[in-house]
Amino acid sequence: MKTPQELAFQAEKATLVAQQGENQKARELALEFLNETGNTKYAYHFSWINRPIVQLPQDIVAFQEIVSSVQPDIIIETGVAHGGSLALSASLLCLLDVMEGLNPRQSSRKVIGVDIEIRPHNRKALDEHPLRFKMELIEGSSIDPKIIQQVKSHVQSSERVLVSLDSNHTHEHVMAELNAYASLVTAGSYCIVFDTVIEDLPAGSFPDRAWDVGNNPKTAVHEWLKSHPEFAIDKDIDNKLLISVAPDGYLKRIF
Ligand SMILES: C[S@@+](CC[C@H](N)C(=O)[O-])C[C@H]1O[C@@H](n2cnc3c(N)ncnc32)[C@H](O)[C@@H]1O
Repeated sequence: MKTPQELAFQAEKATLVAQQGENQKARELALEFLNETGNTKYAYHFSWINRPIVQLPQDIVAFQEIVSSVQPDIIIETGVAHGGSLALSASLLCLLDVMEGLNPRQSSRKVIGVDIEIRPHNRKALDEHPLRFKMELIEGSSIDPKIIQQVKSHVQSSERVLVSLDSNHTHEHVMAELNAYASLVTAGSYCIVFDTVIEDLPAGSFPDRAWDVGNNPKTAVHEWLKSHPEFAIDKDIDNKLLISVAPDGYLKRIF
């Protein structure tokens, strides 16, 4: 039960966040910041519990807020890289366990990470990570039917599921991932699609990659949502963050 003060604070916050979302100058500055720091790979400079994480601090905080409110049993992540986001999920799942009085080693909460290539040094570091017991690592393409089946075999019907897509960022690949994994997301939880910001950055920002303006996670999200009314973009998160690699990528399952 929230106190009147907490309710008033929440209401004020909601009003200010909505105003912030309408602030065109702030939105442009946020995008300019991301564009300007792209060359020095801003998103690559952070780590979580000693594993490099390829995320912006703002998106990491949003992820923490989502995990705290959804309290998932299972987090499915495509795109492991160095394992930072996996360590983030594992640590948050441990905290949920502790807050519920559970022993994290005995609870069934898990993060399932899928990557087409888990490099030996990353695998070694993850195998030696203190939170390894919370992680399932699956190597293979996230859209390979055998891998999809393997992921699904770890999910029990009664569990709350959160999905995070952060692997190959082409339109076609993200569409296939959404079709494979979004149905596992439980009502009230999220499917987070990273790197939607590619659509908003100048064309040619990723010359050595297959994705660009017109072919990226945001174009996939917009097309996919047309036939999936059970999901909606959580604009409050976008308006709150402003600086994010996932604008229009925080998809909440509403039924
Ligand atoms: C941006 S990184 C992931 C970053 C990670 N989520 C983090 O926050 O630290 C993208 C990863 O996707 C992986 N990847 C690329 N194509 C893939 C595919 N078809 N299936 C699964 N993973 C893939 C790459 O090997 C790479 O490690």
